[in-house]
Amino acid sequence: MLTDFSAFDELKRAARRLKQQDISALFASDAQRAGDFVIEAAGLRLDYSKQLLDRDARASLLRLAQQAGIKERTQALYAGEHLNNTEDRPALHTLLRASESSSQPQRFAQVSEVRSRMQVWSERLNNGAHQGFSGRTITDVVNIGIGGSDLGPRMVSTALKPFWGRVACHYVANVDPQDLLSTLRHLNPETTLFIICSKSFATQETLSNALAAREWLLDAGATSATLQEHFVAVTTNITAAVEFGIAAHNCLPLWDWVGGRYSVWSAVGLSCAIAVGWDQFCEFLHGAENMDSHFATAEPEQNMPLLMSLLELWYCNFFAAGNHVVLPYDHSLTELPAFLQQLTMESNGKRVSANGTDLSYSSAPILWGSAGTMGQHSFHQLLHQGNRLCPVDFILPLTTHTELKQQHQQLVANCLAQSRAMMIGRNLAQAKEFLRDQSMAPQQIDRLAAHLVLPGNRPNSVISMKSLTPSTLGAVMALYEHRTFCSGQLWGINPFDQWGVELGKEIGVEILGQLTGGDANADNTDPSTVALLKQWRTYQEPN
Ligand code: F6P
Repeated sequence: MLTDFSAFDELKRAARRLKQQDISALFASDAQRAGDFVIEAAGLRLDYSKQLLDRDARASLLRLAQQAGIKERTQALYAGEHLNNTEDRPALHTLLRASESSSQPQRFAQVSEVRSRMQVWSERLNNGAHQGFSGRTITDVVNIGIGGSDLGPRMVSTALKPFWGRVACHYVANVDPQDLLSTLRHLNPETTLFIICSKSFATQETLSNALAAREWLLDAGATSATLQEHFVAVTTNITAAVEFGIAAHNCLPLWDWVGGRYSVWSAVGLSCAIAVGWDQFCEFLHGAENMDSHFATAEPEQNMPLLMSLLELWYCNFFAAGNHVVLPYDHSLTELPAFLQQLTMESNGKRVSANGTDLSYSSAPILWGSAGTMGQHSFHQLLHQGNRLCPVDFILPLTTHTELKQQHQQLVANCLAQSRAMMIGRNLAQAKEFLRDQSMAPQQIDRLAAHLVLPGNRPNSVISMKSLTPSTLGAVMALYEHRTFCSGQLWGINPFDQWGVELGKEIGVEILGQLTGGDANADNTDPSTVALLKQWRTYQEPN
């Protein structure tokens, strides 16, 4: 347990000391700081020099990692040990992007076979060879899935839009029929292919949307035979997919040793491989593999995922920061915070250790964020002047795929400005001077100055890269996966299960039974739910 390590007490003392410190002063007292609080790997550069951390505190954090056996746990992860102890299985997402594997030859052969099948699908769709029920070429692919079967592929294909080929990809996740219908409204059934992505092939939202998609195709003239041309399944449960009516040869397997939120590298990423083409998808895998080898081999103080995890723990457990902000300064990364929410909060949002004992400390902070610069005109007010600590990661590609290079300079300038403003802030004297420069009357200056004070000292990192490419995107995602893994190990929890989501699903089935059963007297939940059910009934049209 975290609190059992001797470095934990060292860190308590270090935090007390640093709470009295200023990040700007840390720069002033350490001329090498800007260069030494930087790590480069897999095309990414992490600058964590604007963190409320000095060399001694960093050394204590690294000692904690050593005492928690992070190196050994990492080796165990890659070796396929059953780190997912509650489900008694390994977590081998790194194998999905490996170029080779001597330790897992059988599993690697399965991965390679599925990659070949993905390549065939990607090429067939991109060269226009695949036709729908009326003989017209498929132009659009709709991925139907939710959680890990949606957020990863949705984020990747959105991020890589500049690399798209001839096929457009769409994503439907919500059981709210609006999601499916608003997507289908713009599509032609004759030219649309659906990928039903579900590890379990038992998820209510996905199956309901898949059934509705099938009806849409049948209504448009597909037959049960020609329907086959419009459905691919990605699942561990091929039997259920075939029972649903998807041809066995259109089912791509997944394995129980891949967690849903770690699965975009498998056939779950098929929509991305279709969108960007096979070669670019391989680049994406390769970028992640580069980060995997960095994580496995870099020394702790030069290990990017480990350092980021230690920073997460530093603020979460020693500064009581209950949240972490991710601000990508690239509009293509709009979906990144949502992807990271599942990755970090479904993995580490746990109240017991891997052994089932209660944790006496906080785990996964709430992750939130949005693409810059939009947040600057909404919630950055709180980041600069609110009275809660919100550590930030800025993610910054330094060049744009667009022609509007000068406009992109504004984006870069805004990102660097936010990072700096969070650190330096503005004191009362500076606020007054600013107001004087606006030719304000002394009385007004006295009235307003306090409102213009920014305390600064708001910790942030900048993760920069030359540009957002399949490779650097793969590296960013693998970086956060390994950060999540390290944090789970430091907190002593299993980041690969998600038991907490089950109760809501069970009760959902019961309540659906009450809605469809129609017997108000059978409502036997709790007074609030009974009243809500009653209210629902008043608005339903009689059969
Ligand atoms: O309910 C949570 C969850 O099980 C996630 O972990 C998973 O990514 C998602 O649902 C979708 O599950 P499936 O891929 O089995 O449909």
